Amino acid sequence: MKLLNFIGGEWIEDNSLQTMPVINPANGEQLGTIPLSTKFQVEIAAQKAKEAQKQWALVPAPKRADYLYEIAFKLKEKKEHLAQILTKEMGKVIEEARGEVQEGIDMALYMAAEGRRLFGETVPSELPNKFAMSVRAPIGVAGLITPWNFPIAIATWKSFPALVAGNTVIWKPSNETPFMAYELAKIFEEVGLPPGVVNVVFGSGPTVGTAIVEHPDIRVISFTGSTTTGSKVAELGGKHLKKVSLEMGGKNAVIVMDDANLDLALEGILWSAFGTAGQRCTACSRVIVHKNVKQELENRLVEATKQLTIGDGLDPSVKVGPVINKAALEKINHYVQIGKQQGANLLIGGEILSEGELSKGYYYAPTIFTDVEATSILAQEEIFGPVISIIEVSSLEEAIEVNNGVKFGLSSSIFSQDINKIFKAQQLLDTGIVYVNAGTTGAEIHLPFGGTKGTGNGHRDSGQAALDVYTEWKSIYVDYSGKLQRAQIDNNA
Ligand code: UN1
Repeated sequence: MKLLNFIGGEWIEDNSLQTMPVINPANGEQLGTIPLSTKFQVEIAAQKAKEAQKQWALVPAPKRADYLYEIAFKLKEKKEHLAQILTKEMGKVIEEARGEVQEGIDMALYMAAEGRRLFGETVPSELPNKFAMSVRAPIGVAGLITPWNFPIAIATWKSFPALVAGNTVIWKPSNETPFMAYELAKIFEEVGLPPGVVNVVFGSGPTVGTAIVEHPDIRVISFTGSTTTGSKVAELGGKHLKKVSLEMGGKNAVIVMDDANLDLALEGILWSAFGTAGQRCTACSRVIVHKNVKQELENRLVEATKQLTIGDGLDPSVKVGPVINKAALEKINHYVQIGKQQGANLLIGGEILSEGELSKGYYYAPTIFTDVEATSILAQEEIFGPVISIIEVSSLEEAIEVNNGVKFGLSSSIFSQDINKIFKAQQLLDTGIVYVNAGTTGAEIHLPFGGTKGTGNGHRDSGQAALDVYTEWKSIYVDYSGKLQRAQIDNNA
């Protein structure tokens, strides 16, 4: 199937554009093609979005929200259909794909309800017969650049708050997962969203992404992806004085103390480390374990990992699907080789899987290293695959230091039954998300999502915090005294 750009409410066929194949990572099958757009398509989309925004901003927020309710119903109706396509283009197992579509439904309902809130403040004025308030005003056109690992959820995290707040959108989805963008664009069309309110432009990061970040009419950029690309986006966006919201890498750790419920810790680690084949920003890639329980945890992790079924995520018995593409497979393998060379002890996995049917896709064996140095490359860099490094510690203080001793700060987790340790940890763990007695993944949509240090630049997706990205504060003073009243001066008379 040939996917087309969606610009100004129309599906634009442009045969002059080069195309790129979309591949199912589970079996190498070609699913379709996307156009590789140029700066020109971004230019047209920006014009359409800018035009549409003038009207869209005047639609009362509860009416804008009605579209989101309709979108939520459509997503619900199509949940299974979308999940199947998601698994085909991205590779995550079908149960997780359903969960991801659900995340989109939740986001639609949550942001739709914002249409009747979008709270600002009313505050007393320091002067008599004067009224003071702040309201959230839309910024204008939002440029959204989304990744392949959560192709529908992350798109909804960004587009829904942007829309309810009165912005219009230009969206560049990942080239790896354009079908989710196509399906979502179709839903926008089906619910009758006015033309130009959402525009989808397919193409490469360097061409289309850069054009979006540079375009003077696109005033806010929201990006999820690697720290390297994110910092380029920030630099370029900064040059053009744009608001830039970034959500980037992670090197998330699960801490297991010696008083932890090990059954629970085991389940939490497996799910967070090998779910989505380790390709979540929130995935657990380090296990920081107290020396008293290290051996037992290690043995049990290895035994449990042996039981994981690997294969095409459409098969409901499969627990770990493929990784996204060949480059990802090679990158993961490269880090594993570095780990081996640097003396980490490989307990299980550590190889590309290519037996039988697996040879057609991109599969990496769930991998566990132990006796990993906290400062080694394996324990420091984001691998984005099913690889965990076990690091031994002797105290809670040391565990927290190791957790915080990386350049990222997205998610962390502690397993302990000691309330004092838990509260100490939640205070000192330097990450945007902290879990207690659960793995590092599984953020819910109504709390802020994002992280500290190399993970972000102070903004958040999801929750109320997302509204801060897509709105400007406007402070409004109404003086009904009928005379000039000077703030800071006349109130001291
Ligand atoms: C991501 O990996 O970028 O918390 C998003 C989670 C999911 C979202 C992850 N709800 O794991």
